Amino acid sequence: MQVISAIDELRRRTRAWREAGLRTGFVPTMGNLHAGHLALLEEAARHCDRVVASIFVNPLQFDQASDLVAYPRTPEADIAQMESIGVDLLFNPEESSLYPHGREALTRVEVAGLSDILEGAARPGHFVGVATVVTKLFNCVQPDLAVFGEKDFQQLLIIRRLVADLNMPIAIMGLPTVREADGLAMSSRNQRLSRDEREIAPQLYRQLQDIRGLLLNGNSDYAALEQAATERLQQLGFEPEYVAIRDADSLSDISNATQSRVILAAARLGHTRLIDNLRV
Ligand code: PAF
Repeated sequence: MQVISAIDELRRRTRAWREAGLRTGFVPTMGNLHAGHLALLEEAARHCDRVVASIFVNPLQFDQASDLVAYPRTPEADIAQMESIGVDLLFNPEESSLYPHGREALTRVEVAGLSDILEGAARPGHFVGVATVVTKLFNCVQPDLAVFGEKDFQQLLIIRRLVADLNMPIAIMGLPTVREADGLAMSSRNQRLSRDEREIAPQLYRQLQDIRGLLLNGNSDYAALEQAATERLQQLGFEPEYVAIRDADSLSDISNATQSRVILAAARLGHTRLIDNLRV
């Protein structure tokens, strides 16, 4: 696997693949890989001739400076895992090449509306940071396909919208959340859970499963279902931020136009913020 941090060198490489008629798949990451990331990389390899991964801990998407500092950085282990599954190229840019004018005075990308609700309301500025860095990474790599996890459901919708709205010729693929045996969605943040919190954490997914069962049995009192799950999470020791049953295509409230529904939740457990979702 080649490890490249210079944008022009990366472009030379991916241009040569394009000229040779090869399709490039791309998986952007912030490193600290787990089985969920490896599933994305393997999916990219199934659909493309060459696979590029990136590792960049994007300062623009952290709403708390302490979170950015605490974000786990494990480059050696990440590189070893990428090599073991046959990633062709790792793009590992310096902050100064992606943000040459600093973090403040730079062009930003905002997917209006979708960026301000749910996760966006809880973490102001987060999705502008995500949309901006993903646009930059897409411009650097110029992939044919990019693969993202459905664990970050709202992020996936925002990236689909930005690619459509900015007419980028990139197919976006979403992959189902990879879970631990007890149902906890895999996330780099899980390492921060204490032993006791780790025991409780899968209850977040269980609440989503319970709501899903009730919805499938015809219960459509969404506000009551959200409220009951919120109270149950509180009793279990979580500090819930939201439990929301929404239209899976727009994340707006359920309406007659809704074709499929999704249940989304965010809750703090001790110092760790967990998110999860389940399609109905
Ligand atoms: O999902 C992530 O890990 C990040 O939000 C992403 C897409 C790599 C952008 O920094």
